[in-house]
Amino acid sequence: MKNKLQKLRDDFLRQLSTVDTSERLRDLELKYLSRKGELSEIMHELKNLSGELKRDIGGLANAVKTELQDKFTEARRLLDKRSGGERMTDVSLPGEKIINGHLNPITLVQNELEDLFTSLGFMVLDGPELESDYYNFTALNLSPDHPARDMQDTFYIDYKNKSGQYDLLMRTQTSPVQIRAMRKYGAPLKAIIPGRCFRNESTDARHEHTFYQVEGILVDKNINFANLKSFLEIVGQKLFGPDTKLRMRPKFFPFVEPGNNGEYSCFLCGGKGCRVCKNTGWLEIVGAGLIHPDVLRAGGIDPEVYSGLAFGFGLNRLAMLKYSINDVRLFNSGDLKFLEQF
Ligand code: PHE
Repeated sequence: MKNKLQKLRDDFLRQLSTVDTSERLRDLELKYLSRKGELSEIMHELKNLSGELKRDIGGLANAVKTELQDKFTEARRLLDKRSGGERMTDVSLPGEKIINGHLNPITLVQNELEDLFTSLGFMVLDGPELESDYYNFTALNLSPDHPARDMQDTFYIDYKNKSGQYDLLMRTQTSPVQIRAMRKYGAPLKAIIPGRCFRNESTDARHEHTFYQVEGILVDKNINFANLKSFLEIVGQKLFGPDTKLRMRPKFFPFVEPGNNGEYSCFLCGGKGCRVCKNTGWLEIVGAGLIHPDVLRAGGIDPEVYSGLAFGFGLNRLAMLKYSINDVRLFNSGDLKFLEQF
C-alpha cells in the first residue's frame, strides 16, 4: 500500500513537470485527483485495513493528497499567468482591426420606410416568394387570359398541382400579400409588405430579374381618394424632404380602381428639370389606388362595408435615386467595392 502511494506520488510529479497546456493539466487532474481518480481509489481501499495500519497509511495518504493538490494548484497558477502574460507581451503592437459588414442600400431604404409606417401604426408583414398563380394574378383581377399579365412575365415552376396544372411561379410583385393579409387579419387592416420579386427581364442598367418592392395596404370604413392623396404626400415628404410635391396621374392596375401613378417633384432640381428627372421635374415613384371591390371580396372583406387603399414602391428605384446609383444590377452583384460605400 505504501509503495503504491509512493509510486502514485512519483508518477504524478513526474508527469506534472512536463505539463505545458491547461488541457494536459486537466487530464492529469482527472487521472489522479478527481473523485474517480487513482488517489481516491487508494483512499477507498483504506477502509479494508485495520487499526494501526489504517492510521499509519491513512496519515501518509492524506499527506500525499495535500502535497499533490498544492503542486497542482501551483502548476495551474503558473500556466494561467503564462498564457495571460503572452497576450500582454507587446502592448505597443497595432490592434486587430474589426471589419464591419455593410447594409445593402435597398435594406437602408426599406428600414426607412418601415420606420415611417410603423410610426403610423402599420404592421410589417411577409409573404412567400414562391407564389401560386391564383394569389399573384387571378385573385388580383388578372384572369388567366388577361393581357396585363404580359407585362409581368416571370419564372414558372416545373411542377403540376393535383389537377394537372402548372400553378407555381416566382411572384412578380408584393401585391399577392394584400390578399393573404386580408384573409388572415380581416378588416380594419394597416400593413406594409417589403419583399423580393422576380420578373423575366432581359437585364440592363435599368432592368433586373430580381428586385424589391414595398407594398402598403389600408382597409377600413370610409377610406377614399383624399386619404390616399394625403398618405402619398406624407410618404414623399419623408423620403425626399418637406417641400416635396405630389402629382397623381391615372394609371391602370387591375387590382385598384381608380389607379394612379404617384409622382414626386424632383428632389434634385425642385421641379425645374434636370438629369435625374429627365427634364420633366417629376419622378415616378409609386403605383397606387383604391382597392378594387373584387379584390376586397377575394380577401374575404365585404366591399359594401369596407373600402381600402393600396400602393407599391420599387425599392431599387428609390435606392438608385437616393444614392445616385446608375446600374440596377449592382444591388445583387455582391461586389464589395459597391457595397462597402454604404
Ligand atoms: N404591384 C404593382 C406593380 O408591381 C404596384 C401597385 C401596388 C399598384 C399597389 C397599385 C397598388 O407594378
